[in-house]
Amino acid sequence: MQDPKILVIPGSLRTGSHNARLAALAAKELTLAEAEVTRISLEDFPLPIYDADLEAKSGPPANARRLKQMVEAHQGVFIVGPEYNASITPLVKNTIDWISRVRDDGEAPLAVFKRRVFALGAASPGRFGGMRSLMATRQVLEIGCGALVIPEQIAVTNAAAAFDDLDNLKDAQLASQLRTVVHRLIEVVRQVAWVEA
Ligand SMILES: Cc1cc2nc3c(=O)[nH]c(=O)nc-3n(C[C@H](O)[C@H](O)[C@H](O)COP(=O)(O)O)c2cc1C
Repeated sequence: MQDPKILVIPGSLRTGSHNARLAALAAKELTLAEAEVTRISLEDFPLPIYDADLEAKSGPPANARRLKQMVEAHQGVFIVGPEYNASITPLVKNTIDWISRVRDDGEAPLAVFKRRVFALGAASPGRFGGMRSLMATRQVLEIGCGALVIPEQIAVTNAAAAFDDLDNLKDAQLASQLRTVVHRLIEVVRQVAWVEA
């Protein structure tokens, strides 16, 4: 198999986002592990809040189709998103909801999720590190969309103080945990490619 293609999606648009920082570090580690990485910003794919009337009138927006194509072009997806009120953020949920509504001719429902491997990360200034957001996102992807989400994940607590000047994680254990997630994602992508070949 060629180098696995991994899409990295930071789940925050905020200037100075901790999750965007963690996503950038994940992308760096993935590249060091010889993956072919694309890191996007959801700022480039603005979407309205999902509305069934809007969908009935004009179908999923062009950006939902573009995002689905981005996902399709990769074998693995690493989503790094914040926690809002102990759950997934509207941005990440809305993005997944719209992608789940894009269906090409003859395509089975949610096929784009079922043929890819997902990994999750979160960063929070709080003491749970976005753990509850990770749980909610896992539920949406696994149970809602039928995706394979690897069990390894990373939750960065006290995120405002977690990175050094070079944007690396200061805590050696957390840094090692991120590398574990990255290597496991690549390993499972390779295994799935082998089974499907
Ligand atoms: C509406 C709202 C709810 C939040 N709820 C939580 C929460 O439940 N747990 C948590 O750890 N942080 C919570 N936060 C704080 C976010 O983790 C913090 O704003 C974080 O910096 C957002 O991620 P970002 O830096 O990537 O933009 C909340 C923030 C907002 C705006």
